[in-house]
Amino acid sequence: MITIEMLSDMCCPVCRRGELKVDITRQENGKIIEGELVCSLEGESYPVRAGVANFIPPALLSDAQWQMWQDHLRGFQERREERIREPQRQVHSFGKKSRSKHAKSKFAEFAGIREGKVLDLGCGPGKFRFHLKENVEYYGIDPLPLPEAAEFPFVSALSEYIPFKDGTFSHLVVIDAMDHFKDLDAFFKEALRILKPSGKFHLIQVIHDVKGPVSAVKVFTHWVKDSLEDRATKIKNPEAPKHITEFTSASLREFVNRYFTIDAARSYNEKWYSPTKLFLSMSPRR
Ligand SMILES: C[S@@+](CC[C@H](N)C(=O)[O-])C[C@H]1O[C@@H](n2cnc3c(N)ncnc32)[C@H](O)[C@@H]1O
Ligand SMILES: [Zn+2]
Repeated sequence: MITIEMLSDMCCPVCRRGELKVDITRQENGKIIEGELVCSLEGESYPVRAGVANFIPPALLSDAQWQMWQDHLRGFQERREERIREPQRQVHSFGKKSRSKHAKSKFAEFAGIREGKVLDLGCGPGKFRFHLKENVEYYGIDPLPLPEAAEFPFVSALSEYIPFKDGTFSHLVVIDAMDHFKDLDAFFKEALRILKPSGKFHLIQVIHDVKGPVSAVKVFTHWVKDSLEDRATKIKNPEAPKHITEFTSASLREFVNRYFTIDAARSYNEKWYSPTKLFLSMSPRR
């Protein structure tokens, strides 16, 4: 959902300065259901349809550089839809829900967010909000709107083009989503822009380190799972990668260190053989 109240924190995601002029054709209790949001500076227009505001810059969709990411996202969407339609076809579905809930609850403990405004980038169904205290304000962004997005402040947008004003958020979280982003430098610049100077960025990212026999098993398990999942999926997108970027612990740290300093780190294993997730808590570099 997008509400009229949210607009005071929002701006055009392309010029990142323009206020949004609203032309609402339908609203319900402060929620915008149908209308247009127009940049006051350059006139770009962002539609709101069935309660979902779409801030994906239209020019990107015809940009050749974004083609591979779009194919990748289509593949991701197809696998997600198939999982919902035919859960029994999926490999590894047993216990998956409760395991991911466990990871999120451990991550919430790790992040220790007590107050403020949180932006969840690549939020999917927005499940992290259930792990936050009631006084914390939660906002989600994802290019793919899910039905659950009607239940919390949500806009359809990209991590590389965030439709919020400078310094809006006290916390940014990215959960199992950074390896799907198209342009990591653009994302990190946006992360620094929308965070307050005292803000924190909390990340969960799978890493694929090969150091010793256990990590070799992990990398192999990951590969087998991906291949089985591919075979179990009817709609295939053979050209598009499953992830845009794959990280090792070193490559992840090296990248984030360009923009943030790492305040705390923890590794998390769902099972001894499942790929390790790294939890990082970071502050903007000055
Ligand atoms: C594996 S899901 C994780 C969803 C959620 N964070 C969770 O843990 O349940 C990755 C999400 O990243 C989103 N995504 C892909 N590219 C993105 C981009 N450029 N900006 C923001 N989100 C993106 C996908 O649509 C997808 O919902
Ligand atoms: Zn603009």
